[in-house]
Amino acid sequence: MGARADRPSGDRMVAVIEGQGWLDKPSYKIEHGMALALNLLGPAGVRVRDFLHGRWFGHPLHPMLTDIPAGAWTAALVLDGMAVLAPRPEGFKDAARAAVGAGLAGAAVAALAGLADWQFTHDNARRIGLVHGTLNTAATGLYCLSWIQRRGGADHRARWAGAAGWAVMAASSYLGGSLVYRHRIGVDHSDKELEPRQFTAVLAESELGAEPCQVQAHGVAVVLARSGGAIYALGEHCPHLGGPLSKGHLSRGQIICPWHGSRFDLATGTCRRGPATTGPPRFATRIRAGQIEIRRIPPVPAAPPGRVLARQQHIRDQEEARGDRRP
Ligand code: FES
Repeated sequence: MGARADRPSGDRMVAVIEGQGWLDKPSYKIEHGMALALNLLGPAGVRVRDFLHGRWFGHPLHPMLTDIPAGAWTAALVLDGMAVLAPRPEGFKDAARAAVGAGLAGAAVAALAGLADWQFTHDNARRIGLVHGTLNTAATGLYCLSWIQRRGGADHRARWAGAAGWAVMAASSYLGGSLVYRHRIGVDHSDKELEPRQFTAVLAESELGAEPCQVQAHGVAVVLARSGGAIYALGEHCPHLGGPLSKGHLSRGQIICPWHGSRFDLATGTCRRGPATTGPPRFATRIRAGQIEIRRIPPVPAAPPGRVLARQQHIRDQEEARGDRRP
């Protein structure tokens, strides 16, 4: 059996789509159209884009929103089946129509969030994303048709349109999963190492100029930057797609990713502008014997157990970082 036959059919389907270079031309036209529309909105466009990425939520919005049409349309499929089998189908028919309508509303919002995320993909991920979006549009069109037919009493045709829409949606969902699983779209790309746990010298203070600088500490890449007389340290890799923050530039206490312009607060690591939805890890810094030393600040758990102890540790970390406490 050949290597090709050994590959799962899903793999082969994805590989075929990834090889379609002609998809790039329409992709860039759509992307440029979107960028133009958002730029025309000015600062409101930035807020809209950040909202759609999910920066306010600290998590990409699109994967969560897709559960609405997927769940509602699957429920409609089951209800349609029950309406066929039940001796008194009226209740099932009404419920199926409501589920189709709820799925349509969810699909519209999910599509906007998905477009906002897709705008910043590249190469193979962009091609998969384009086909994923096209299939979703086709599924939504079929459910629109199904909705109209249900309202007109053409139940039999409405069920077939709905079933076809569900099949298209299922194929599209596979591609959506592929975008996350293979291409790591929507995944946090920042380094999650807990090192260095102790203060570690990484650079002579005199060597850090006005530009950000990448250093290594126990194999962890970190970006150092000066701002307002203080020295800050953040994880080198942008959480969005792993862009090198040390190649970015500084502006008003923030570091800007060179790849897609996400902004991160140097003092807190907070993401101030997307497409990233969360910030990189943060490190405490201090100067000892002319050397910049850094230590990882562990994230504070949001809930018990150990909440109080973790909070105390966090406060100690901050005091050490400011030089108020000796480690
Ligand atoms: S990699 Fe996309 S904003 Fe940093």
